[in-house]
Amino acid sequence: MEYIKLNNGIIIPQIGFGVCGFTDLKACEDIVLKAVESGYRLFDTAAIYGNEEAIGNAILKSGIPRNEFFITSKLWVTDNSYEKAKKGFDESLEKLQLDYIDLYLIHRPLGDYYGAWKALTELYKEGKIKAIGVSNFFDDRLYDLIYNTEVKPAVNQIQCHPFMQREDERKLYQEWDVQLQAWSPFASGMNHLFDNELLKELSYQYRKSVGQIILRWHIQRGIVVIPQSHDDKRMKENINIFDFTLSDEDMNRIAALDVKKVEDTSYRLESLKRVYKI
Ligand SMILES: NC(=O)c1ccc[n+]([C@@H]2O[C@H](COP(=O)([O-])OP(=O)(O)OC[C@H]3O[C@@H](n4cnc5c(N)ncnc54)[C@H](OP(=O)(O)O)[C@@H]3O)[C@@H](O)[C@H]2O)c1
Repeated sequence: MEYIKLNNGIIIPQIGFGVCGFTDLKACEDIVLKAVESGYRLFDTAAIYGNEEAIGNAILKSGIPRNEFFITSKLWVTDNSYEKAKKGFDESLEKLQLDYIDLYLIHRPLGDYYGAWKALTELYKEGKIKAIGVSNFFDDRLYDLIYNTEVKPAVNQIQCHPFMQREDERKLYQEWDVQLQAWSPFASGMNHLFDNELLKELSYQYRKSVGQIILRWHIQRGIVVIPQSHDDKRMKENINIFDFTLSDEDMNRIAALDVKKVEDTSYRLESLKRVYKI
């Protein structure tokens, strides 16, 4: 495992395990326990995923000390205000059966997220959150938050994968000292990512799976990744990526897969309407 130091000195594992969509609590608990056995210690959940309780149960059942885990959860957009954020955080903490959360993120920049940030800042100062951050913040919003608040976000968790590489953001965040964490590091398997000819060629050349090539490419870009898998073999494969290095030339070849297209605005508007049930 490799680790990265966040801007407040907190150490984050460079690979974790995402649990979005694991809504059956027992199944989720079993998958998380398998992931723990495979070596994962960072788990990425969110209030909206509805499975924080299962993560908490798995941590307790694992018998591994709490301080060896790195637990991330996220405040859902309907709780984006000062009061609701405090309440939302307490509910997450209770469901997770923890007395602190390692990384707590504002899930999306909607509504009164400045009020929510104020609440997160207080919880951070009280030691109930080790690092606070955001998710899905475009550059202007992230910069505005950095510019106007006392505690800078440690992380921005955004969609990032070989077809949407976010290279401009990666460079900006380095300058701003905000860690880029990639959600959907495999593009959720869409656009035939695992059948891509270049990635298959590199898989053959390095004697590693396509999944391992993709994750290694993220790691070498200094990104924290949270892939997801239901499958024991693939979850083990995904964490075993620290015994090889992609050459600069191959990193550049993968860079050419970028279609440089971030979700279009109509998609974002549709998504916002769904959130507010408009
Ligand atoms: N902040 C946000 O707004 C946000 C949004 C979306 C997601 N996320 C986070 O990001 C996490 C991961 O994103 P994601 O679930 O969209 O997808 P992902 O990790 O990009 O892709 C998961 C898909 O890849 C497959 N897969 C995994 N490892 C593989 C391998 N080695 N070889 C071949 N196929 C493999 C999985 O299939 P199998 O299960 O069959 O292995 C699954 O279909 C989520 O769980 C969540 O924690 C955050």
